[in-house]
Amino acid sequence: MSIIFEKETKTFWLDGKGTTYSFFINPFGYAEHLYFGKKIPHESLMHTRAYGGLSKGIHPNPAIEGQRIWSYNYMKSELAFFGTGDYREPAVLVENAAGDRLSDLLYAGHEILPTKPAISGMPSLDGGETLVLHLKDEHTDFCADLYYTVYDDCDVIARRAVYRNGAKTPATLRRAYSFSLSLPGRDYEVTSLWGSWAHERFMQKTRVHHGVVSIDSKNTSSSATLNPFIAVSDLGATEKAGQVWGVNLVYSSSYVLKAQGDSGGHTLLTGGINDFDFYWTLEAGESFETPEVVIAYSAEGFSGMSRAFHDAYREHLINKRFVKAPRPLVLNNWEGTTFDFNLEKLKAIVDAVEGTGIDTFVLDDGWFGTDRNTSTASLGDWHIVNPTKLPGGLKPLVDYVKSKGMKMGLWFEPECLNENSEVYRAHPDYIIGVPGRIHGIGRDSWMMDLTRKEVRDYIVETVNKVIRENGLDYVKWDYNRNVTESFSLGRAAKDQARFAHLYALGVYDLCERIVEANPNVFFEGCSAGGGRFDPAMLHYFSQIWTSDNSDAEARTLIQYGTSMCYPLSSMSCHVSAVPNHQTYGRVCSMKTRGDIAHLGATGYELDSTAFTDEDREEVRAQIVDYKENDEDLVLNGDLYRLANPFESNFFAFQLVSKDKKQSTMTLYRRTNICNDYPLRMRLEGLDPKTMYHISELDLTLSGEILMTVGIIIKFRGGDFLTLKYHVNAVE
Ligand code: GLA
Repeated sequence: MSIIFEKETKTFWLDGKGTTYSFFINPFGYAEHLYFGKKIPHESLMHTRAYGGLSKGIHPNPAIEGQRIWSYNYMKSELAFFGTGDYREPAVLVENAAGDRLSDLLYAGHEILPTKPAISGMPSLDGGETLVLHLKDEHTDFCADLYYTVYDDCDVIARRAVYRNGAKTPATLRRAYSFSLSLPGRDYEVTSLWGSWAHERFMQKTRVHHGVVSIDSKNTSSSATLNPFIAVSDLGATEKAGQVWGVNLVYSSSYVLKAQGDSGGHTLLTGGINDFDFYWTLEAGESFETPEVVIAYSAEGFSGMSRAFHDAYREHLINKRFVKAPRPLVLNNWEGTTFDFNLEKLKAIVDAVEGTGIDTFVLDDGWFGTDRNTSTASLGDWHIVNPTKLPGGLKPLVDYVKSKGMKMGLWFEPECLNENSEVYRAHPDYIIGVPGRIHGIGRDSWMMDLTRKEVRDYIVETVNKVIRENGLDYVKWDYNRNVTESFSLGRAAKDQARFAHLYALGVYDLCERIVEANPNVFFEGCSAGGGRFDPAMLHYFSQIWTSDNSDAEARTLIQYGTSMCYPLSSMSCHVSAVPNHQTYGRVCSMKTRGDIAHLGATGYELDSTAFTDEDREEVRAQIVDYKENDEDLVLNGDLYRLANPFESNFFAFQLVSKDKKQSTMTLYRRTNICNDYPLRMRLEGLDPKTMYHISELDLTLSGEILMTVGIIIKFRGGDFLTLKYHVNAVE
């Protein structure tokens, strides 16, 4: 990687592993975008500055020769601002002391830093050479610092903006996005990930058009509704071919991402914190930091984009202690017992998995409070262990689990509470909401006002005490509803529209003080399944429960969509019982459930006391296969998606080790089509010159033949079936 400033042409060149990003300071002093794509030589790109029609163009300075062929609305500004004639979506809208909303952000210098400084109070990618571009409005002293970080081990650029009011009077941010990026032309599609509870991250595509394609969340959470991700791709780009730019925001609250086809012949990408319900006054000298956006580039279609994100997150975002280490192989009791358990039942569940390879027992919801037999009571009472279910406290269970050589995990939902709880009775003012008005109930609970320090202090103290006193190894951190009635007691009326962002900062502070304070404890995130699956959460939670829907057929779609930007190791995937709870009865075989769940950080979620000897043996064999063949590929390998369940009857993931010596291909067929033709699959990611043996077919062929000619797949009769192939280099 390298960042270079060419003085003569005032051009910046930011070279990453396989990408180049370039812009220059134009004759009027504005930072004007030139290029972001495949790595290119540093030749002049001035011939790309075509400004289109001149009608109604607004020009900055008639004194400068040539200004009439230039106007704001055709400038591909590195940060689109409002007020001067660039009518595209601005990244920043500032209300100055006089009440005008004019910005005129000119180049004011730059720094090239060897590593990226952290953002205060928000997670971001680490490392990487970083350019800080200083922009300033000379008239108002309003400044924007744009950060650009490139990496030599992944094809992403990380960007963000810091806004500063350098004036002696207040200025108000009415919009403070993280970036602008102009792509040439408008022939693109936008892929985004929509969903809701139990069907998260389904893919949808729409065309870039004149106007704005916008996806957002107003939930004070990154949400299951739309993930903070878009991919902008050449028309007709496929998994293997075409240019794709992926945009993923490292943020967990309300956000917006936009792609705008403009009349200047470009597509503008922009976004960040949602400016809907946002208003932030900066006093003299105050700054506002925006969350980081990670932009991946691939010249090899969607699959290249996904691998760029996966590498970036594994190398630079997820907890280094855990990201590449074998994950706890969990038995979680939730789907097996829900709230209905006692010490004897839990011991029996633990006993029943002895010898299977399961190494961690996670006790889910229901262990705390005096009355936690349904979701209507005791939430938040982490200081009380349920006296009926666990009369001696947690210790006897923890000791029992540990005596079996297993690790112990526990469920918490630190951000929520029930009205019927000790914590609410003691601190009725801790909840979010407007006093005297409606308090909407979600999954029977209200929410703690994390924007207030005393509320966070209370949670940190109570949760940390349980973790430490019981020597926990694992925590499942759940979050089962979204914020409503955003309002914080004690905050000035003019600052109430800060709520959504302050909530995110509150969550991050809580994570710092619980996750970081317990460095040896493994944290899994959850939000009624995958309702808050974003890069910021992944920084704290090395894996996230991907969905409450654990049905294998549903999971093929959910895991396919999630893999667009999140690595397989970040997806917590459990084998659950059949008939499946969430799909009201679908029955997939144990093999199918295992094969699909083993494409992530795997585990089991069922009542193991119901195992027959045959079941137990099957689980044991699955875990042996996972440990020998899947785990390392899930943690460190490259993903190739060979069949798309949104578009076909099949799903196929092929995982390949970085040294290309080991690979597995898992193929799933939804339904059996009578007298269907045989399926030809061409493998990917192998070394063409290496010979590989596929044990299931007893076939030895070169990577070249496997990738060019392929293999024939033969399913037996039946629905919801998987086939798995182990493909290993022959020494
Ligand atoms: C949420 C989670 C589940 C489980 C329950 C417990 O729905 O997604 O996995 O933990 O809460 O109440």
